Amino acid sequence: MFKRALNGIQFMNISIVGTGYVGTVTGACLAELGNKVFLVDVIKEKVDKINKGIPPIYEEGLEELLKRNRERITATLDLKEAVTNSDVTFITVGTPSNPDGSIDLKCIKESAEKIGAALKEKERHVVVVKSTVVPGTTENVVVPALEKASGKKAGKGFGAVMNPEFLREGKAIKDFMKPDRIVIGGLDEKSLDSVVKLYKGFSVPILRTNLRTAEMIKYAANAFLAAKISLINEIGNICKKLGIDTYEVAEGIGHDKRIGRAFLDSGAGFGGSCFPKDVKALIAKAKELGYEPKIMEEVLEVNKKQPLKMVELVKKRLPKLEGKTIAVLGLAFKAGTDDVRESPAIPVIKSVLKEGVKVKVYDPEAMKNMKKIFQDIEYCKNLGECLKGSDACLILTDWEEFKNLGDSDFSGMRNKIIIEGRKVLDKKKNGDFEGITW
Ligand code: UGA
Repeated sequence: MFKRALNGIQFMNISIVGTGYVGTVTGACLAELGNKVFLVDVIKEKVDKINKGIPPIYEEGLEELLKRNRERITATLDLKEAVTNSDVTFITVGTPSNPDGSIDLKCIKESAEKIGAALKEKERHVVVVKSTVVPGTTENVVVPALEKASGKKAGKGFGAVMNPEFLREGKAIKDFMKPDRIVIGGLDEKSLDSVVKLYKGFSVPILRTNLRTAEMIKYAANAFLAAKISLINEIGNICKKLGIDTYEVAEGIGHDKRIGRAFLDSGAGFGGSCFPKDVKALIAKAKELGYEPKIMEEVLEVNKKQPLKMVELVKKRLPKLEGKTIAVLGLAFKAGTDDVRESPAIPVIKSVLKEGVKVKVYDPEAMKNMKKIFQDIEYCKNLGECLKGSDACLILTDWEEFKNLGDSDFSGMRNKIIIEGRKVLDKKKNGDFEGITW
């Protein structure tokens, strides 16, 4: 798929601590580029899977990369051994939300302490934070933990770098291999140089910054994209009242280079493990600094209300929902993933369940994960089974499979009420549906 070795690149030995989306994709891609990679985790099951070439998560193309680069990838529970045999160590552990929206740095601190301990006897090494952490974290949390555990001084005994990821789930490998830009924040020039070398074959802008700027660029990118979605959804809600198709408006403004068409797909709102969590974390950080970030708070507020517009639209058609059957097509927070974290389908299902509705669902990938959240709804084997006998159908994910649905596919429904939360259906194949903002 991608060139295995790029001219002039100096291959390195790299440890990656944490085998979630970011860690596994980063490791597989760095191995594909020719580096030797140690993927470190504390969960034996994940380590065993990776060593067999099986990804611990669903991500398109990942299995192929892991299998093809098996001789260059070693998954291990032994962090010390991995770090000792590496030139660079990436930290890619999770930074989940605390109840107040701030991020939980427990795993980051623990990883830094363990890496620090492994660095005691190492001469030259660079530690790179890739996890999403609020500005100041690498300097104030990671570096002190590394210094304390290693007994060495950052900049002299080891290098420190922050290299944020801009990987979309479902497109993560492409985003790694063909990024728009690479951001590398360093404690000093020497630290920066060693990580810039890793990306030598990439012909995209490489931005060299300090540590906290790199951390902020990641948050600013996600906050901006989330704001773009909430703004187009707000415009969409107004369009809906005026009988205007928001997608035509999006096209009209998207041609303006200052705006751009990307991320103007209006719908049931953004989900996933990143936008909601990162916007909350930046709000919490701003408040800690004594600043009230009004726009970002509204971005989340608009997004919280948006999926429920689907329920309002069904209620307009079926005022008494009690006893009715609703089919929900699509559970993943977006197509191409089995991830249901913060999926707009969750508040929609919760809301109709409260109305005494029977809920039937179908998703090509995400049903297993949704079963952990809702046990008492009907999980259907296929689309037909889900739609059969339903009084309304709500489309919440833009899966390819749904794009081909035509009139006949909905013929088994008791009432043909179709509400789209993602623009998927084709008017030529099926004229009878309503969009959340179109
Ligand atoms: C997002 C960013 O796009 C990545 O650049 C970033 O690296 C990643 O978060 C992260 O911080 O790790 P991801 O959450 O995988 O990636 O998914 P997106 O494709 O950005 O979609 C997020 C949500 O926004 C989805 O629910 C999607 O349906 C929704 N969305 C997206 C819209 O409602 N409208 C759009 O126009 C685009």
